[in-house]
Amino acid sequence: MPHVSSLGNYNPVVSVYPDAKVASIDIAQRIASLIRSNHQSGKQTVLGLATGSTPIYVYEELVRLHREEHLRFKDVVSFNLDEYFPMQPDSPHSYVAFMQKHLFDHVDINPDNVYIPDGTHPRESIEDYCRTYEQKIGDLGGIDIQLLGIGRTGHIGFNEPGAEFDSQTRLVELNDLTRTDAAAGFGEKEQVPTEAITMGIDTILKARKIILMAWGKGKAAIIKKMMESDLTPDIPATFLKTCERVELVLDTEAASDLRKE
Ligand code: F6R
Repeated sequence: MPHVSSLGNYNPVVSVYPDAKVASIDIAQRIASLIRSNHQSGKQTVLGLATGSTPIYVYEELVRLHREEHLRFKDVVSFNLDEYFPMQPDSPHSYVAFMQKHLFDHVDINPDNVYIPDGTHPRESIEDYCRTYEQKIGDLGGIDIQLLGIGRTGHIGFNEPGAEFDSQTRLVELNDLTRTDAAAGFGEKEQVPTEAITMGIDTILKARKIILMAWGKGKAAIIKKMMESDLTPDIPATFLKTCERVELVLDTEAASDLRKE
């Protein structure tokens, strides 16, 4: 890994909105504009997508734009950040099920253009599989817009504390706090998988635009830490500060612990 002191350290653009819904509508509209302008120039749009509670309103607005304002997803390709491992795609806990429920079942995206890490892939060949996932992103021209949430551990994707700056798509262990936070959805923590496949920090940082969203008081402390800490693998989201294409989109509560300039 390059020594962290040799990496650039930008002050990311921080946009603060009165609430998550207004912010999400704005993000969805920006995505829609890109899809439309790429379409006009005969190009595909490659989206990097996240799951969890944070992006739900963005997907809701994209669905509305499809239904009411003719936004077409025919030439959209999507790559999801992560999936639990092991995980069957038809499990209600899978990120495949999440994406279908919140977005894919309601828009005209071609299922062949949807990529989500395969939680059923045999463990023996998982490294090759992850390399192929990474390669596929490159083959399709790279990600235009990457959406991110942030976990209370400071994870982006499932790049937990300890993740390396140059990490790529791989199998990882989930942090205990991440499994605690996921417990409600699974009934109990013991049911939450201990591993996941995730895009790496490097995979994420290669995107042409990266939007990290955070809503609510529960995210205020980690947003403050991310913004005020030096670059460190202990808080993987700090690595976003090495890239000037990153924007933080926060609601007032998530921004409430930040120092006012
Ligand atoms: C999900 C993902 C995670 C979540 C993060 C926040 O695909 O990669 O990094 O974005 O755990 O989760 P929520 O949005 O549920 O607070």
